[in-house]
Amino acid sequence: LMDGPLKGRHVLVTSGPTHEPIDPVRYIANRSSGAQGSAIARALAALGAKVTFVTGPAEVPPPAGVHVVRVETAREMLAAVEAALPADAAVFAAAVADWRVASASGSKIKKDGSGALPALDFAENPDILATVSQMKQGRPGLVVGFAAETDDVIANAIAKRARKGCDWIVANDVSPETGIMGGAENAVHLIRADGAEDWPRMGKAEVAAKLAARIAGALGDEA
Ligand code: C5P
Repeated sequence: LMDGPLKGRHVLVTSGPTHEPIDPVRYIANRSSGAQGSAIARALAALGAKVTFVTGPAEVPPPAGVHVVRVETAREMLAAVEAALPADAAVFAAAVADWRVASASGSKIKKDGSGALPALDFAENPDILATVSQMKQGRPGLVVGFAAETDDVIANAIAKRARKGCDWIVANDVSPETGIMGGAENAVHLIRADGAEDWPRMGKAEVAAKLAARIAGALGDEA
């Protein structure tokens, strides 16, 4: 572990997409690369934190020097997060699937030759950020969520912060004209109880470093 302002602190980070099985060979997923979550875990470790990195099947590899817990589904991610607590802070950067297939088939779904089409029923996944934010006991001292918005970015992020019960929301504008989704840069607003801060457009590593520094500042104030 590195020396730094987060030495002796445990920080949990979720990252990547989740995969929700349809049958043993098929799944529902999303396009999250895991880039921002991986950069945040790296930046926290660089400040000396002990980092537990709970990641779905991401394109971008996890950073060195963190404890990696690999999961596939939203329910596995929630279980891994609960098992990793207690933590001084938690950052929820994962793009968790909102729904899973209600009863995934135990065997491969096959065409039967009649032209009959399969139908999928969905069930809602647990909201991991909201679950942890609203814990009565053992809640991390600082809980940070993300919000990807295309309209009314700040107003929607303020509402999301209240609804989820987290302390901070990192809100980014993902409307297509920004080129942020899948790009190397990010333009974010940090939403806290006392207002919104607009950060200039910068690389994902710089967003991560700035967020890690803010987390170190917040935990430092507490100690
Ligand atoms: O509600 P929405 O998906 O926009 O919220 C995004 C935030 O909530 C992110 O921090 C994401 O990691 C978290 N989230 C979660 N579990 C879910 C859905 C979202 O932790 N099932």
